[in-house]
Amino acid sequence: MSLLLGVNIDHVATLRQARYAMNPDAPILEPSILEAALEAKAGGADSITVHVREDRRHMQDDDARLVRREVDLPLNLELANTPEMVAFACDLKPDFACLVPEKREEITTEGGLDVVGNLEALRKTISELQSAGIQVSLFIDPDESQIKAAANLGVEMIELHTGTFALTIGKEHESEITRLQSGAEFGTSLGLRVNAGHGIHLENIKDLFSVKNLKELNIGHTLVSRGIFIGLRAAVAEMKAAMAQYPTKS
Ligand code: PXP
Repeated sequence: MSLLLGVNIDHVATLRQARYAMNPDAPILEPSILEAALEAKAGGADSITVHVREDRRHMQDDDARLVRREVDLPLNLELANTPEMVAFACDLKPDFACLVPEKREEITTEGGLDVVGNLEALRKTISELQSAGIQVSLFIDPDESQIKAAANLGVEMIELHTGTFALTIGKEHESEITRLQSGAEFGTSLGLRVNAGHGIHLENIKDLFSVKNLKELNIGHTLVSRGIFIGLRAAVAEMKAAMAQYPTKS
């Protein structure tokens, strides 16, 4: 199967909120989240990702509900591990829920979710989400202890944090690629579906092609940025074309 593309459209909400956060009842709100999701789909997106934050600074609850209702693609909801957000997810019933850190104490030094340090809180949440029929992903660093802890918690997926990969060059970048390779292989050997995301763009994506076993990339910032100039549909299609070079077994 080819490498899938999950399109994160949060920045469309960032732009809308920049103008309308104080005027949510304005006659016209733009840019439209629904149009963005439909354009991403037309460009070849395999799923849509929205991150509804605790402070609702970008995506609003109704945005997620609208995409869920109107867009015929799998929906990946990113959320913090709080009772309110978990209740929202169980009601929304996205296909996938990816638990991400929003508070300092949940973050490892590199920025992924600290699964090892939050085992009990995560166990309860994962069970609630899975009982609602939602597959669960954890956004973690390519760190063996975090990957093992994720597998022990019984999640279906992990998303490897590519933030360090994206911000480094030279030796540091090479060693991060090696860590991603080992992490993806280790996660797969434990039966996890391994995705990756954060900071990926058309320039650095080629460096990820040596990381085997990846199933999906979650990409947002660069697509919305390119979308300003060439349109979101074309930006997504361009990324899909680049991703078609990823070596897959079948
Ligand atoms: N994956 C996760 C868990 C994210 O929170 C984000 C957004 O920061 C992304 C992927 C996409 O990252 P970017 O917008 O840098 O492509």
